[in-house]
Amino acid sequence: MKVSVFAPASIGNVSVGFDVLGLAVKPIDNTLLGDVVSVEQSDEDQLAVVGRFAGKLPKEKEQNIVWQCLLRFNQALLERGLEPVSVAITLDKKMPVGSGLGSSACSVVAALEALNCFYQKLGVHHFDQANMLRLMGELEAQISGSLHYDNVAPCYFGGLQLMIPDEQVITRSLPTFDDCYYVMAYPGIEVSTKAAREVLPSEYSRADLIQFGQNLATFVDACHRQDKVIAHQVIKDVVAEPYRNKLLPGFIDACNYLQSQGALAVGISGSGPTLFCITDELEKAQEFAKWLNDNYLKVNTDGCTEGFVHVCQVDKQGAIELPSS
Ligand code: HSE
Repeated sequence: MKVSVFAPASIGNVSVGFDVLGLAVKPIDNTLLGDVVSVEQSDEDQLAVVGRFAGKLPKEKEQNIVWQCLLRFNQALLERGLEPVSVAITLDKKMPVGSGLGSSACSVVAALEALNCFYQKLGVHHFDQANMLRLMGELEAQISGSLHYDNVAPCYFGGLQLMIPDEQVITRSLPTFDDCYYVMAYPGIEVSTKAAREVLPSEYSRADLIQFGQNLATFVDACHRQDKVIAHQVIKDVVAEPYRNKLLPGFIDACNYLQSQGALAVGISGSGPTLFCITDELEKAQEFAKWLNDNYLKVNTDGCTEGFVHVCQVDKQGAIELPSS
């Protein structure tokens, strides 16, 4: 018996909700933009890492977040008086590390959900969603250095998630704009969330505080009223973007160009360097994707790039078990 789970990319913050908003996205061409983790029974615990970005991860399995997920999941089983079995885990690392696409959340969510599905199929135990989300947050915090659910929650549940200051609830789904396209441009450079948090000020002005609160409240209200114009007018980041844009070569020029061409909103996905750009016209999305491909990706000396651009829409499913091959 083998269980494989896919967990999708997400836009942390969505500019207007630092640490408290996240949106799961999926390419319209059905590319799997996210990680896949497979679990099967074995004689001993093992971890294999494959995929386009496998080489970017530490060689020692103990340093891999998926291995840490296994240890933490086993501990959670033991706390319930249940005996873990040995498993062979394969991480298909499709997501670039330090990309702002919620790469570590993809690994954490896919790993924990695959283990949960595996144990459910064995008939041993199944943790409920609230317990799973708490575990996911804990593991994500190990990597990024602080507890924030804005990637793990949308990655697990799909859609647009708003973090709630209630340990029993943690997150609530907001209505999404389903005719919108999210052009995601990963330039091929790495920016760690930890480093991107270190450039932020420790205090903000009263004016910034008021603008942040007003924008986020207006955005949430506009989502509920499905007022696309107002919702996208207030996708503005006063908390992180003014300080992080210096870490992102070409970001300001790209923003200016895309806005001049009628983008509904442009921002940094999570802690960057991925840029997201929103439009409700497919033709424009494709034009923006081409422009970003030609102008935002870092080209190496050999003429190649590790970057990519995808035209996406909202991913409503979140983490899903893949059919066995
Ligand atoms: N919300 C966090 C940040 C992580 O911006 O630092 C985003 O993925």
